[in-house]
Amino acid sequence: MKNFLSVKHINDLPGWVEEAKKLKQNPMAHKKLGAEKTLCLLFFNNSLRTRLSTQKAGLNLGMEVMVMNFGNEGWALAYGDGTIMNQGTSEHIKEAAQVVSQYCDIVAIRAFAGLKDKDKDEAEEVLNGFKKYASVPIVNMESSVGHPLQALADAITLAEQHTTKRPKIVLSWAPHPIALPHAVANSFVEMMRLQDAEFVITHPKGYELNPVITEGLTIEYDQIKAFENADFIYVKNWSSYSDYGKVLHQNPDWMMTKAKLGDAKFMHCLPVRRNVVVEDAVLDGGQSLVIEQANNRTFAAQVVLKKILDNTL
Ligand code: CP
Repeated sequence: MKNFLSVKHINDLPGWVEEAKKLKQNPMAHKKLGAEKTLCLLFFNNSLRTRLSTQKAGLNLGMEVMVMNFGNEGWALAYGDGTIMNQGTSEHIKEAAQVVSQYCDIVAIRAFAGLKDKDKDEAEEVLNGFKKYASVPIVNMESSVGHPLQALADAITLAEQHTTKRPKIVLSWAPHPIALPHAVANSFVEMMRLQDAEFVITHPKGYELNPVITEGLTIEYDQIKAFENADFIYVKNWSSYSDYGKVLHQNPDWMMTKAKLGDAKFMHCLPVRRNVVVEDAVLDGGQSLVIEQANNRTFAAQVVLKKILDNTL
């Protein structure tokens, strides 16, 4: 049984991207592969793209798809071994994961970081709980520390741009009024390690990502300098990692503007706050790839599900 939990489970990024591009040309080509198989999507947090694109990917492969908003409709889960469940939780992950496994052939899970307790978030108790107790393959639809389906979609989007030279790709922090997790940025960084590109991360001091994830990579604290000669600028907010989960400031000077974008292509995973993270002129201009990134979420998910179904993951 193979799970897809992180970018580390992509064993051949160029090969997976090529396969995704083929699926995009002919999404129904493997419609029989998932016949009589069921995909279960469990959401502990909100979603638009992940929910619909993963559902679409399963349908394209001929699967039945069940979706549950576990966060507000499921029983509150307990996770620890030996937990005395005399407080707010009604069901243990041990039973929940085994029960869900009876109903489906693949289970995909979204469970964000709480951003209150770093150790608890990094323990990934929802994802790892299902990994431990489920008897079917698990797919990560964004966990506390990673969003590998987004990173794979971003790799597909980059590949479709047919850059002739080795591109310069910049990941830039941008301001945001509420604390956001590190998952998208983490997985983008991990995916960039698999690319032949010049890669620069830029953010204000205090917003360093987990140093284990960024070890050895270029970090430039001057955003304008980082953007020089960039071919792609990927913008994303994240909260502080060292002062865990805090919004240290929302410096509007870091908002993405058309003037800063220059000739580069703009990327963002969405959803995005207009005129806070990025100004309208960028999102509404011809250099924005955000809608294509969202489109590619279907084919990223379809590659992963296909590999699980045909045992090539
Ligand atoms: N990019 C992304 O994961 O979007 P949703 O949160 O809407 O699923």
